[in-house]
Amino acid sequence: MNKLIRLPEVDSTNEEARRLALRGAEEGTIVMADRQTAGRGRRGRSWYSDSADSLYFSILLRPGFIPDRASMVTLVAALATGQAIERISGLKPAIKWPNDLLLSEKKVCGILTELHMEEGRIASLIVGIGINVNQKNFPGDIASMATSLQIEKGKPVDKERLLSALCDSFLEKYHEFLLHEDLSFLQTEYNTALISRGRQVKVSGTAQELVGEALGINTAGELLVKKEDGSIEPVYAGEVSVRGIYGYV
Ligand code: BTN
Repeated sequence: MNKLIRLPEVDSTNEEARRLALRGAEEGTIVMADRQTAGRGRRGRSWYSDSADSLYFSILLRPGFIPDRASMVTLVAALATGQAIERISGLKPAIKWPNDLLLSEKKVCGILTELHMEEGRIASLIVGIGINVNQKNFPGDIASMATSLQIEKGKPVDKERLLSALCDSFLEKYHEFLLHEDLSFLQTEYNTALISRGRQVKVSGTAQELVGEALGINTAGELLVKKEDGSIEPVYAGEVSVRGIYGYV
């Protein structure tokens, strides 16, 4: 594994990775914490980070590609994380586009990728991953939407082994991504794991709400949604709700 910095507590591992990047830390540096006091989620949400039974960590990357490519790295991380979870626990998470991992249709892992630019170039790309590993319960507001590997498996999962398998699997896929700069090499595997494939989805947070059947991702990582009129729309950003999951009925 690459250089690992392990802290008992930090505000956010993404923030700490950013601070290290500013001080010249190298690509592949991993920051892990037992607790976060200001864990961040996507779309300005917070990430519940008060359990030493969870994994909270960030991987610092310094890619030379153009910023447009950065969002694809999130999908690389989702697939790599799902496969590492399967290798270590035997559980097979589904992916909710772009990068949530679900077990029993509840969230077990979230990924937040943050891009920092300097003089028009990527200075750092930080992939932050939070996995509910050995929690036995969750606070009221997230209890109905969240699960953990222990809850699903019925016995604890080794956090350190999972972290090591995940970093290996992510960095291997990331290096392959650097050769292609698109997702053709993992499109089929990703689509096989995609929970929304063939199901009705609702895309919000974009100029116009969109409803249709999710077909899978294209090689750019966009979610292809077939609308009622038969036309296919690639979705680049937005919040995708899958019918039947987290209250979308
Ligand atoms: C999501 O909203 O689903 C993304 C959650 C990402 C949480 C992880 S925990 C480690 C890293 N540090 C943070 O502050 N956030 C990410």
